[in-house]
Formats: sequence, structure tokens, C-alpha cells
Amino acid sequence: MEIKKKPGKPQGKLGILTPGMGAVSTTFMAGVEAIRKGQAKPIGSLTQMGTIRLGKRTENRTPMVKDFVPLADLDDIVFGGWDIFEDNAYQAAAKAGVLHKETIDAIKPFLESIKPMKAVFDQKYVKKLSGSWVKKGKNWLDLAEQLMTDMTEFKKKNDCDRLVIVWCASTEIFIKPSDVHMSLDAFEKGMKENDPNIAPSMIYAYAALSLGIPFANGAPNLTVDIPALMELAHKNEVPVCGKDFKTGQTLMKTILAPGFKARLIGLNGWFSTNILGNRDGEVLDDPESFKTKEESKLSVLEHILQPKLYPELYDKFYHKVRINYYPPRGDNKEGWDNIDIFGWLGYPMQIKVDFLCRDSILAAPIVLDLALFLDLASRIGFKGIQEWLSFYFKSPQHAPELYPEHDLFIQLMKLKNTLRYIQGEDMITHLGQEYYD
Ligand SMILES: NC(=O)c1ccc[n+]([C@@H]2O[C@H](COP(=O)([O-])OP(=O)(O)OC[C@H]3O[C@@H](n4cnc5c(N)ncnc54)[C@H](O)[C@@H]3O)[C@@H](O)[C@H]2O)c1
Repeated sequence: MEIKKKPGKPQGKLGILTPGMGAVSTTFMAGVEAIRKGQAKPIGSLTQMGTIRLGKRTENRTPMVKDFVPLADLDDIVFGGWDIFEDNAYQAAAKAGVLHKETIDAIKPFLESIKPMKAVFDQKYVKKLSGSWVKKGKNWLDLAEQLMTDMTEFKKKNDCDRLVIVWCASTEIFIKPSDVHMSLDAFEKGMKENDPNIAPSMIYAYAALSLGIPFANGAPNLTVDIPALMELAHKNEVPVCGKDFKTGQTLMKTILAPGFKARLIGLNGWFSTNILGNRDGEVLDDPESFKTKEESKLSVLEHILQPKLYPELYDKFYHKVRINYYPPRGDNKEGWDNIDIFGWLGYPMQIKVDFLCRDSILAAPIVLDLALFLDLASRIGFKGIQEWLSFYFKSPQHAPELYPEHDLFIQLMKLKNTLRYIQGEDMITHLGQEYYD
């Protein structure tokens, strides 16, 4: 990737807009405000708490990531979003039930000030939801233009220098790329004709990219992962990334599976089941939305374990993922994994993982990091898919001729090496001569 402009300290405010103001989005917004007020720490955020080693180990240079690359300051962030419900961020956070009442009450006026703009929505794409805070328009193009007006007005009203958009709305039903997605011309024609294969999330992405605003997709929907919108991203020189925040069970999978492969431990089967009771769980109770999530979750092991290279170890493993909507649990999901492995001489063993996880607590720092890194990418002239941000995704968007990288540790290496490259430091390959020179 070519660096077009040297990264300087950003000036002015950064607006972070989220289509969807539910559990993840409000946990992110409330968290940033609590951190700004000194009430909490940005745990889980690489941009805020991570360090990066530079040069040889003997040099002892390990700055904080945020001191190494010029990222927007938390104090310079303003928030906005869209939802199909009119609840402000305080009401939405209270309903989502992720954060304790005292946490959100301590920043109530701030959260109440974030009011959603009317959404672009089509219930065909999220069967379990129906809301009234929805835009009306004569076709998709008209709705895209209304979103562009929202973005431009938000920027002006809040005196922002730049905007970034992170999709935090519900998972849409599973669709495959079709003719209308194959070129920008076909897509724009399809928008005028209200083509049924165009999903609302694509309209947000189209509006953002048309205005040169970076776009990240936190859900597994196709959204920006279609040739038409990639064409637009390249034409307008905008960075994009996706899909599906890597949290919870898949995060664990991408930590454990590279370890098995590293030690050449075989796998017979991996059964993963979840219970969760938040709105996301309700949406995923619909088989068509679940199918989008399932595809995203299933591809991970295949890519990490590389059965073609290790047929004796990984050729026939059985992989099953289940999500069960169970209201009493709310956002506090429980994810069980039963892993059947085999070792020396083929002797079988089992591992059980029971992760009592808080999905949105794991997702919120991802939203922050993605927004800050995408803003950096945009300022230095990176465009198209930002593979170095695969670290944050279950289903990393990748160039058609490449396979996605799922191994969390390789992803982290790529991310940090990209930061070193941006700042003109040597990339670290762990092949250095530091013992000898
Ligand atoms: N929580 C996690 O750890 C995690 C991990 C990976 C991916 N995700 C994805 O992130 C998304 C958000 O998760 P969540 O837990 O906040 O869900 P949520 O249900 O609490 O919030 C989603 C919000 O999006 C709104 N919405 C739906 N369609 C919309 C549209 N077209 N425009 C604007 N708003 C719309 C809904 O009304 C809802 O308020 C989901 O797609 C989920 O699958 C979440």
C-alpha cells in the first residue's frame, strides 16, 4: 500500500457515526466518554493501551501505539448514528443492559444528547425487527442521498474535520453477490430501480464512500464486500474494512486453533454453541440472519488449520456452530466449545471451553480502534480493503485472489508491521541478528 501523504497530527474533530445505536454502539460511546472523564480505563483497545517494539530488542524502544502513530485524540471525537428506534443513546444503553446503571447515569446528559437519525431500513433484511424511525424515499438512490445529507449536516453542525462510519446495526439476511453488485454502473442503476438484491447496509456504505468517508463493517453482511462498492472505494480513494467484529467464541477459536496447528495436534471435531438474550440474539434467531453469521463463523477453522497442507491432522474435522436465543441471559452470553483433538499415535483428548462472555464489552474497543485506524489510513491516502485490520474481524475482507488471514497472531504482526511501515521503521520479521551485532 502506498503512503500518499506523510502522517501528521490530525487537526480538528473526528465524527464517528454508527448505523445502529444498540448494545455495541452505545457501549462504545459511553465507554469513550467514561474514559475521557477519567472514570474508566480503555481496556481491550490496542490504540489506547498497546505498545509496539521498534528496532532491535537491544534498543529498548517500545512506545505506546498512540504515541507512535498520529491518531485522533479521544477528546476530539464526537458521536452520532442512525437507528430504526428513536431512543437516544442513554435510553438505548439502558435497554441493552450491558453497562450498569451507575455507569450510564454518571454520563447521562452526554448520552441523552446523542439522538439517532432516521434509518434506512427494509424489514425483508432483518425479519425480527420493525421500527418506525425510518426514512421514506422514492428509491434506494433517494435514500442514499438523504443519508449523504445527514452526514454532511452532522459534519457541519458538529464542526468536524473528518468522519468515519462503523456499521453496528443488526445482521441482515444471507445473500450472495449477484449481477447488480458486480459494477458501480449496475449498482447505481439498481438503486434507481429499487433492485431487491440491494440491502440497506449497502446504501449506508454507498453514501459514505460517495463522500469519501471510510467505512468499517462490524456485522457479517456483504455490505461493502461487493465489486461495485470496492470500485467506488478505489475511485474515491477511501479505505474500507470488514466483516463481523471478532469477539467472544471466535476470538477464542482464533487463539486456540493456531496453537494446535503450531504443535501439530490433530482435530476431530469442534462443536460450538451459544446462549444469548440480547437484541442481536433475537435477530439471529431468524434462520436467514443466522445463516449470515454461521458462514462468517465457520470459515475460521478451515483457513487457520489448512487441511490441504495437513490432511492427516485436519482433513475430516466436524465443525458445528449454534446460536440460541435465551432472553434471561441478556448481553451476557455463554459460549461452550467442545473440542475433540488427537495427539501422539492418534490418542484422543478433549478440551471444554465455557466462556461467560460479555459480547459488547469485547466489541466496544474494536469499534474505537477501527475508527481511529481507518481515519489514519484515510489521512495518509490508503484506499480499498485494509487487510492489516483483519485482526479485528471474524471474516476479514480480502482481495479476490487472496485467502483471508484468520490467525490472530499473524494478524497482529501484520497490523504492527503496517504501523512500522507507515512511520518508516524497519518491519520486524523475528529473523533479526540482534544476538550477534
Ligand atoms: N456484540 C458483539 O460482540 C458483536 C460481535 C460481532 C458482530 N456483532 C454485530 O454487530 C451488530 C450490532 O450488535 P449489537 O449487539 O449492538 O446489536 P443490537 O441489536 O443491540 O443493535 C443493533 C441496532 O441496529 C438497529 N438497526 C437494525 N437495522 C438498522 C438499519 N438498517 N439502520 C440503522 N439501524 C438499524 C437496531 O434497531 C438495533 O438498535 C450486529 O450485527 C452484530 O451481529 C456484534
